[in-house]
Amino acid sequence: MRKHAMALGGAGLMLGVSLLAVQAQELTGELPDPPAFAAQSEPTFVSISEIMEYKALPEYHEPDWVTSKYVDAGTLPPVAERLPEEPLVFKTANMPDGMGVYGDTLRHVIGGRPEGWNYIGGQSQGWGGIDIGLSECLTRTGPLFTVKADELEPMPNLAKSWEWSEDGHELTMHLIEGAKWSDGDPFDAEDVMFYWEDNVQDSNVSAVPSGTGTPERFGVDTTLEAIDAYTIKWTFKEAFPTQYLYAMAYDSFCPGPSHILKPEHPKYNADNSYDDYKNAFPPEFMNMPVMGAWVPVEYRPDDIIAMRRNPYYWKVDEAGNQLPYLNELHYRLSTWADRDVQAVAGSGDFSNLEQAESYVEALRRSAEETAPARLQFGARTIGYALRMNLSGNGWGEPDEREQAIRELNRNLDFRKAITIAVDRQRLGESLVRGPFTAIYPGGLYAGTTYFDKASTVYYPHDLEAANTLLDGLGLADTDGNGIRNLPDGGGDVEITLLANTDYGTDTNLAEGVIAQMEPLGIRVIASFQAGTARDDKAQSGQFDWAVERQGAEMVSVVQGTTMLAPTGPRTHPFHKAGTDGTVDLLPFEQELVDTVNAFIATSDNAERADLMKQYQRIFTENVYSVGLTQYPGALIVNKRFANIPEGAPIFMFNWAEDNIIRERVFVPADAQGDFELHPEMLPGAPGSAGPM
Ligand code: GLA
Repeated sequence: MRKHAMALGGAGLMLGVSLLAVQAQELTGELPDPPAFAAQSEPTFVSISEIMEYKALPEYHEPDWVTSKYVDAGTLPPVAERLPEEPLVFKTANMPDGMGVYGDTLRHVIGGRPEGWNYIGGQSQGWGGIDIGLSECLTRTGPLFTVKADELEPMPNLAKSWEWSEDGHELTMHLIEGAKWSDGDPFDAEDVMFYWEDNVQDSNVSAVPSGTGTPERFGVDTTLEAIDAYTIKWTFKEAFPTQYLYAMAYDSFCPGPSHILKPEHPKYNADNSYDDYKNAFPPEFMNMPVMGAWVPVEYRPDDIIAMRRNPYYWKVDEAGNQLPYLNELHYRLSTWADRDVQAVAGSGDFSNLEQAESYVEALRRSAEETAPARLQFGARTIGYALRMNLSGNGWGEPDEREQAIRELNRNLDFRKAITIAVDRQRLGESLVRGPFTAIYPGGLYAGTTYFDKASTVYYPHDLEAANTLLDGLGLADTDGNGIRNLPDGGGDVEITLLANTDYGTDTNLAEGVIAQMEPLGIRVIASFQAGTARDDKAQSGQFDWAVERQGAEMVSVVQGTTMLAPTGPRTHPFHKAGTDGTVDLLPFEQELVDTVNAFIATSDNAERADLMKQYQRIFTENVYSVGLTQYPGALIVNKRFANIPEGAPIFMFNWAEDNIIRERVFVPADAQGDFELHPEMLPGAPGSAGPM
């Protein structure tokens, strides 16, 4: 059959394709429902105004040692002077265990490594919530998992309020007034504008480590201006695009400290290159000014990053106690698998259990009475897909072989062949047996708000049909070495597969895909890289295929919406602009872009639901990416911590590290451990102990 198609040449190829078009209808099948698996607890749904407000309080407090050691000694202004006029106040009634007490340490373990502290300049701090804790953003989304569905909108944060112009094209935001960076420098519109103008708008900067700080994330032709020190004004092409309020949360609008970053930026420093700017604050640099609750004070390579409470943190509880309650945060620099092991064993305090291979053991240990940690499963929001590089016009500068693979990737029959060659049942079971993994056809996850089964096209496993499809494409094994050749006397079909070695699940799934492509006569070659190197390759388009854990856009839709389709030149994870600055959209991609833009432009809920049905249908029908598996994650937190909200998902609008509102988390006095490495130390305060 393969040789036959080749022998017929061009005409045969066309005939083959039209025959297959008929057969293609039969490739679809009934999508099995995911195995029943109930999330273990539900959040209590509230209004945002029940969680927080901005308000001046009659008095403010701080840990006693801060007063006696620093304020009384004259090295730190009194707490009332360090706080904004109207701090952000977390309400007691919404705190699961009520108002907290000061002390203790939250011991995180992470698999990433810090590149440096220039977050907005694109440097990763090693993930696992370290950057989430350092950065504060205009709005906030993590805790939205507890907000009533019909009141869903991002929470105020650095932007304390906003209003739309009558025509809906202008959004005026009021920044919190009088809040300070952790070194005491005022936070104001200059910080916001430096992020926008010299990082987001400057195409020499890949703003924020995930690369999502692009102008289009906030809408094509959107502008931002400072009206005064605490007022900024957005202008949008669309009317009332409330959607962009989500883009103003983590991770795409969290300003950096302009007072120390600006002097390193090439625009303001003729001696510096863009690399100099990006790398100006290496991991060894301590006390990087942050707006977050804790500040890095110690770094030991491959060992630990220790962070201490930010003396200028701008959030308080209703009694006026300056937050955070926890004095110290640790980031043990280890592996992601070790994060699970340590959290379950009690030598670490927190993990997002997300690598399905360790579920059974973690569950077993956590069920024991003496288990040090609580483990709570949530919804199936962890999902993996095989993503193909769809740029045919030069993104990532492909060589000849790579370009030939791009052409295949852009062919629907090819993508169909690959998707039906994948045995999802087996892939899922190879990770973990039991009711965890579900068959994931691609697109939005089953069980999430906008998912619609009737709009989901599913192509079940069918190896024979997959081979037939490839025959029809003229990919025949012309040299008899067991691997198909590219048409017209081309070489073997060899495809590299990018995956992240920091996670066992990523490489296990990638290996599964590689094995399942073998009977198709396609050679898939592992391109397995450690996290940061992998991310660089993925963001710069240097891959044929990638197996990836997907982002929040596939779960919530409202977070990261502009990433759902190539709505701009640099927004999409696997199809960015080529060398001429344009994205060579396939016709169905144009439909996806239009659908996503229409979704952003309307706030009518029925219309939105409808648009996402269309999105799902176009996505899955065209195998936009090859879905692999979808499963629930579990949050593991040591039992001594209080104020962990019921039903906190490890991943929804954001990761659990944001969802649980760490600045409110505390340890009751009688349960406090002795884990502080730098007791009574304040970052940057003169006269403090420890490595400054
Ligand atoms: C990594 C981890 C996640 C989560 C995020 C937070 O991606 O795998 O569980 O901790 O970091 O950014």
